[in-house]
Amino acid sequence: MLVADATSTGGPAMVGQISVDIAPYGVADIGMLVVDGWRGQGLGTVLLDAAITWASAAGAHKMALEAWPHNTAALELYRRAGFKEEGRKRRHYRRRNGELWDSVLMGRPLP
Ligand SMILES: CC(C)(COP(=O)(O)OP(=O)(O)OC[C@H]1O[C@@H](n2cnc3c(N)ncnc32)[C@H](O)[C@@H]1OP(=O)(O)O)[C@@H](O)C(=O)NCCC(=O)NCCS
Repeated sequence: MLVADATSTGGPAMVGQISVDIAPYGVADIGMLVVDGWRGQGLGTVLLDAAITWASAAGAHKMALEAWPHNTAALELYRRAGFKEEGRKRRHYRRRNGELWDSVLMGRPLP
């Protein structure tokens, strides 16, 4: 896990994080968030770039993730970093209110 630390600017020690989990078959699955109030300042981009660099150096051949179809901010961030949509899980996740949600699967080959 990589974290964004804002203590040098008087902020909290953790204002964002990205987890990278490399499967035995070489795909690095990521999950990330930037704390509300710290979004829209480029932190997500910095975290994602750092995760790509780390996964590449660790020997992964591909990055992968899942996102909600309505998560415009995340989808745009990932597209800008070279991720492409590879498919969807249809009506896959049951939410507490009973709804069944799709998810978007995205991937990005690593050099
Ligand atoms: C998705 C998330 C990590 C983005 O982090 P961030 O620090 O705000 O991202 P950045 O500031 O680096 O933005 C990078 C690009 O993403 C896109 N983006 C970010 N926020 C956006 C928004 N609200 N609407 C549309 N596009 C957005 C833009 O293209 C932006 O580039 P620009 O600023 O040059 O226009 C953050 O919104 C977040 O933590 N959301 C809640 C948790 C979450 O959804 N995690 C991902 C689960 S799949």
